[in-house]
Amino acid sequence: MKFFLDTADLDEIKEAASWGAIAGVTTNPSLYMRVGGTLDGFHDHIKRICELVDGPVSAETVATDREGIIREGRELADLAPNVVVKVPTMVEGLAATRALTDQGVRVNMTLCFTVPQAILAARAGARYVSPFIGRFDDISEDGLEQVGNIIAALGNYDFTGCSVGDEGVEVIAASIRSANHVAQAALMGCDIATVPFNVLKKCVEHPLTDRGLERFLADWEKVKNA
Ligand code: G3P
Repeated sequence: MKFFLDTADLDEIKEAASWGAIAGVTTNPSLYMRVGGTLDGFHDHIKRICELVDGPVSAETVATDREGIIREGRELADLAPNVVVKVPTMVEGLAATRALTDQGVRVNMTLCFTVPQAILAARAGARYVSPFIGRFDDISEDGLEQVGNIIAALGNYDFTGCSVGDEGVEVIAASIRSANHVAQAALMGCDIATVPFNVLKKCVEHPLTDRGLERFLADWEKVKNA
């Protein structure tokens, strides 16, 4: 499983990229708003993220009609070669995804919650589909179960002819709230987990690691003083 960082915060991206284990970034309008983003600064901000990350960077469209999504998607795709255009899973989004894919633009279909949505996204050419775990849990459903269902269903078929350059489709577990979400997604064979920076840190940490390190360092002091 690959790790993407789910943020628009440049400092978080720089820091996580320096750890050497991040393969991409996903953003959305809410994440951009949270870093004080402005309308005029949006394209420059995406460009800066693309320079910081050696991998796909998802930037989301906000139009709700297909022509608008296609226009915004093309503008975003022209910003950098590693831009992936994020498009909501809905009728206009499917049509725009097919059009963008046919023009060689990679699409991440987001706000995906069900198996039929995921299959339609893949058939429309999506390079990535992003089922949301946490938001499903928020309405007392089982987000992880849905991700597992989507992985299993997509695995039943061959989507290589659908997407840009016959690359097929990858599942991005999104709306991740805990290290356990990451672990369970990995056990299901999910291709990618996109994680907020605080969850990424929790994925690295463990109290027994801290305790073990403390003991090793204390014993090393004894070695030095022997
Ligand atoms: O990138 C979209 C998704 O990860 C959002 O997560 O926590 O706002 O539900 P969340």
